[in-house]
Amino acid sequence: MSKADILMTAPMMPVVVDALEKASNLHRLWEHPDRESFLREVGPRIRGVATSTLFGRMDASLFESLPNLEIVSSFGVGYDNVDVAEAAKRGVIVTNTPDVLNDEVADLTLGLLLSTLRKIPQADRYLREGKWLKAPFPLSPTLRERKIGIVGLGRIGKAIAKRLEGFGVSISYHGRTRQEDVAYTYHPTLVGMAEACDVLIVITPGGAGTKHLINADVLKALGPTGVLINVARGSVVDEQALIDALKSGTILTAGLDVYDDEPRVPQELIDMEHVVLLPHIASGSVHTRNAMGQLVADNLIAWFNGKGPLTPVAETPYTKA
Ligand code: NAP
Ligand code: 8YV
Repeated sequence: MSKADILMTAPMMPVVVDALEKASNLHRLWEHPDRESFLREVGPRIRGVATSTLFGRMDASLFESLPNLEIVSSFGVGYDNVDVAEAAKRGVIVTNTPDVLNDEVADLTLGLLLSTLRKIPQADRYLREGKWLKAPFPLSPTLRERKIGIVGLGRIGKAIAKRLEGFGVSISYHGRTRQEDVAYTYHPTLVGMAEACDVLIVITPGGAGTKHLINADVLKALGPTGVLINVARGSVVDEQALIDALKSGTILTAGLDVYDDEPRVPQELIDMEHVVLLPHIASGSVHTRNAMGQLVADNLIAWFNGKGPLTPVAETPYTKA
């Protein structure tokens, strides 16, 4: 049987490239300076795409260039990089990489929460700058007696909550639907949860449905002792409203892993000593990124072996013919 032609939209990890090189005729889009003429010539042969959350958007015009596309395998559990409505319209399956990163992202979230409250990066800088020789590091805020609200109690949100249980803090959540099998307190409105809590941890999908969910009203409700942790997508938080709230003391502080215009981060945030800023690393260990990469390749290989996709997204469900 002849191998399928697969297009990779941007450089990916060796685990993906090696597997797809063996299993398919792999085309690397970024290696072709004249992208349009390459797509005109090769586009009609392409049956699968490997793409990534951070690089190589799958937009409507790229779908248009690939008229015989069957499947898009995207690296990352979030898939706001893929125009899924366009995929669904064309009968193209989209897959993502759920579950294999839950623990890694949850671990990092707890690290970011503690770093933000106990000022771990600031304390490290303090020591290195020789300031400890002159005076002890100032006392920090605490996680003790905090009320934590999780915005988006999905796969990763639940892994975060499980870890938080060990810290003896109160846990509640907000989402569009109450989950009957969950013991944490449910808040039907986000402002209501922000009023009741003093930490918000945001772990929803990105995209139009959650754009600026965390706005000035939510930050005001969170209040002057409040802490915002965002490990979801930059688009979920109104970044200017957050900057204003941090400057004015409307909330206490923030720990961020994601931003509106990555990898560019507003200078106003960089200039704030009291916030903790990470460069979108929540899943970024060798172990977990390899597991995600393997799943990108396995989805394509399963599909072209006639076994169906392993992890199709909800908008493009697979029904066996
Ligand atoms: P998931 O299992 O689908 O959970 C998403 C949760 O968000 C659900 O509980 C859902 O609850 C809630 N939600 C969706 N839309 C909402 C809305 N408009 N308002 C309030 N809640 C909403 O997804 P997951 O696997 O946990 O991943 C979550 C997201 O984390 C990803 O999509 C990605 O954006 C982000 N992420 C970031 C990193 C990073 O490196 N920083 C790594 C991995 C994932 P309802 O349906 O009840 O609303
Ligand atoms: C990765 C992510 O950083 O899975 C997601 O949705 O945001 C992260 O795990 C990203 O996919 C890297 O491309």
